[in-house]
Amino acid sequence: MKRRIDPKDTPTKDLHQYILGSIAPRPIAFVSSVNEDGVENLAPYSFFNAFSSNPPIAVFSSNRKVADNTTKDTLHNAEVQKELVINMVSYDIVRQMAISSVSYPTDVSEFEKTGLTPEPSELVKAPRVAESPVNMECRVKEIITLGDQGGAGHLIICEILMIHIDEKVLEGNRINPHKIDLMGRMGRTYYVRASGAAVSSIYQSVADIPIGYDGLPEAIRKSDVLSANDIATMAGLKELPEKAQPIDGMDVNTTHQSAKELIAAGNTEQALSLLLSIH
Ligand SMILES: Cc1cc2nc3c(=O)[nH]c(=O)nc-3n(C[C@H](O)[C@H](O)[C@H](O)COP(=O)(O)O)c2cc1C
Repeated sequence: MKRRIDPKDTPTKDLHQYILGSIAPRPIAFVSSVNEDGVENLAPYSFFNAFSSNPPIAVFSSNRKVADNTTKDTLHNAEVQKELVINMVSYDIVRQMAISSVSYPTDVSEFEKTGLTPEPSELVKAPRVAESPVNMECRVKEIITLGDQGGAGHLIICEILMIHIDEKVLEGNRINPHKIDLMGRMGRTYYVRASGAAVSSIYQSVADIPIGYDGLPEAIRKSDVLSANDIATMAGLKELPEKAQPIDGMDVNTTHQSAKELIAAGNTEQALSLLLSIH
């Protein structure tokens, strides 16, 4: 059974948490900016993502506070300076990032409060966070206001002008997820550390048309042993493999168990071949 949430009848503070708990984990833009007096500002924004690679565009949303409907310093700085830096948050700096989310007075620099090191940018006034593994110097292309009540977002559309990536997280021209060790934001006070066992590689060829769920025999699709992911792993193969030789004395349950183990070990074709020997 699913609970129905109608935004019209739901207090904003609850709706906010339903949305945050569901649309998760979210990447965190750790945004550095400066105001017209040169005061540096740093704050995390997880209503954030990349939306285009050519041109390179990232967007985050600075919301009106639900409690008092005021707006945030980052939004002001984006409006007046039209530039900022998006720094990525690795596990090593997650606690310092959390400190920066406190509402300090406008004239207080969160660099000092967090102990993080401001490093000059090449193309924009806002400094980069030296300890962050990736810094993106951005020009604010457009700001879209979504409403005037508490909780309303302002989409800050950023064109990425320059990216700085720590060589330590790179392997050739690719980023190693375990080395960059990024943090994601979930609902309430929860975060996720995106490295180690939390990260898995799912290969699905986009060049080959897969068999699909419906291309597998019903007895495989209705298995009590194989999970939906096990079945979908086989459905992702390009074609049905040859049937294996049936193994004497192996019943349906044992065969499905063996297939499950083969899939877990990455031997998907062998698993399907074994299943086809009895179905
Ligand atoms: C991990 C994290 C993510 C956050 N994401 C957002 C967000 O997407 N939008 C927002 O308006 N506030 C967000 N906040 C709250 C702001 O960081 C907070 O209001 C901060 O004081 C704003 O600082 P500023 O006034 O210097 O811009 C987030 C806080 C944390 C800890």
